[in-house]
Amino acid sequence: MSLSPVTELDDEFEQAGKPAGPCAMVVFGATGDLTMRKLVPALYNLMKAHLLPREFAMVGVAIDDMSLDDFRQKVSRFLQVEDHGTEAWDRFQQCLHYMRGDFGDAATFTQLGEVLSAIDQKFGTDQNYLFYLATAPKFFSEIVKQLGQSGLSKQDNGHWRRVVIEKPFGHDLDSAQALNYNIKGILSEKQIYRIDHYLGKETVQNIMVFRFGNGIFEPIWNRRYIDHVAITNAETVGVELRGSYFDNAGTLRDMVPNHMMQLISLTAMEPPASFSADAVRDEQAKALNAIQPLSSEDVLHQAIRGQYGEGTVAGEKVQAYRAEPGVSPESKTETFVAMKLNIDNWRWAGVPFYLRTGKRMAKRHTEINIQFKRAPFQLFRHTAVHKLQPNRLVIQIQPDEGMALGFGAKIPGPQLRLGTVEMSFEYSKYFGADPYTGYEVLLYDCMIGDATLFQRADMVEAGWRIVDPVIDVWRVLPARNFPNYAAGSWGPKEADDLMERDGRQWRKIE
Ligand code: BG6
Repeated sequence: MSLSPVTELDDEFEQAGKPAGPCAMVVFGATGDLTMRKLVPALYNLMKAHLLPREFAMVGVAIDDMSLDDFRQKVSRFLQVEDHGTEAWDRFQQCLHYMRGDFGDAATFTQLGEVLSAIDQKFGTDQNYLFYLATAPKFFSEIVKQLGQSGLSKQDNGHWRRVVIEKPFGHDLDSAQALNYNIKGILSEKQIYRIDHYLGKETVQNIMVFRFGNGIFEPIWNRRYIDHVAITNAETVGVELRGSYFDNAGTLRDMVPNHMMQLISLTAMEPPASFSADAVRDEQAKALNAIQPLSSEDVLHQAIRGQYGEGTVAGEKVQAYRAEPGVSPESKTETFVAMKLNIDNWRWAGVPFYLRTGKRMAKRHTEINIQFKRAPFQLFRHTAVHKLQPNRLVIQIQPDEGMALGFGAKIPGPQLRLGTVEMSFEYSKYFGADPYTGYEVLLYDCMIGDATLFQRADMVEAGWRIVDPVIDVWRVLPARNFPNYAAGSWGPKEADDLMERDGRQWRKIE
């Protein structure tokens, strides 16, 4: 990953990376949204940043009948118009290939093998292939099986073959284990790149740099000083055109075992011995394995679900979840989850981790709030100060990336009064706006064979192990009070109660 030693601030912030070695990338599901919105722009950005090898080609595979011209046209609609006609643009267009194919048909893979051989000849891609499964999850096992049977996944004579698997990786622990079992029968763990796009976000990667690249935070990053950690992931969007997928998945599966667990594990992990893929992932896995799965009784009190009704988001009236296209009008699927989790290890015992994530909330905002314990009050007993506010460190993940440390300061005047002030840092002010999609670093890392930012089998399974008890209880006890929060609000009241019962509150997000 791109955690090579950090440059000095005044080093123009640019890391001159080396281009990846020769390779071809095959995208299954090449006409879909993910490919067009994220993968293709990310590849193009990599090319412009000179991180894509000169010897590169992409082959899109999908079931749609489409000519190469149509495919290139479609791609061009998703790239910056101002670039059309430039040299980078022409070069990128030349790299793109398209092949119609049925993922369950062996003939597709025979033909793909021929296309790749021709590409090796023409582009010098050296038989190194990156297969990206940007398809519906039902195809994951099948495609890997076909890659195995056709010999395309076999690495020999120094040629590498890697497979990127998108989320959702399973829909519960059993299915995730079954999928791991199937693909590991064909690929070695080192060939598998389970993607979680949260790890492509600069601010998420920065959690590690912030914690381990600075001397002042780590000594207080534990149960002696921290009262609790609260993670908020709020989206203003609803389910858009994904109603039929989402109505089967729900927010718990869609966000918690993956994205939320990444945020928790990076916040809670022990310092790794190095930034090598396994050293980092060992520590993340250990942190996840220390999270106590909830008992059925705990689920009733510590896991909150919600579904949005109609409401107003950013001044616009929006419909209820049950009225969204593809969603059942009686749907019991949750669009909001809040949970209280405990990490049972020496660093975190007794420090609750609260998380909440939901759609159609008041504001798009993701943050990790590290709340410290209050200072002893004794000293202020005979003053006008009634209460000391706890210090908090807020790691803002998106959209306004940065950090803010809140602390008490004396309000000027003859009386001793305290106010909370903030010391903050905004990414965009120091480093400029991030022009990337987040997939650049992930694709580049696959090409150079660095799996640090990808999930290992044990991490994925640990994530499911934490949400499985909740899935089970919620399945037998379907929600009776849905919809229970208005679109444009901060979620159901029960989520506030979850913290208030412990004498705490979600940080107010303005
Ligand atoms: C995806 C989920 O993995 O992450 C979506 O399937 C969700 O439902 C999205 O909207 C959130 O990603 P981001 O990067 O916008 O926070």
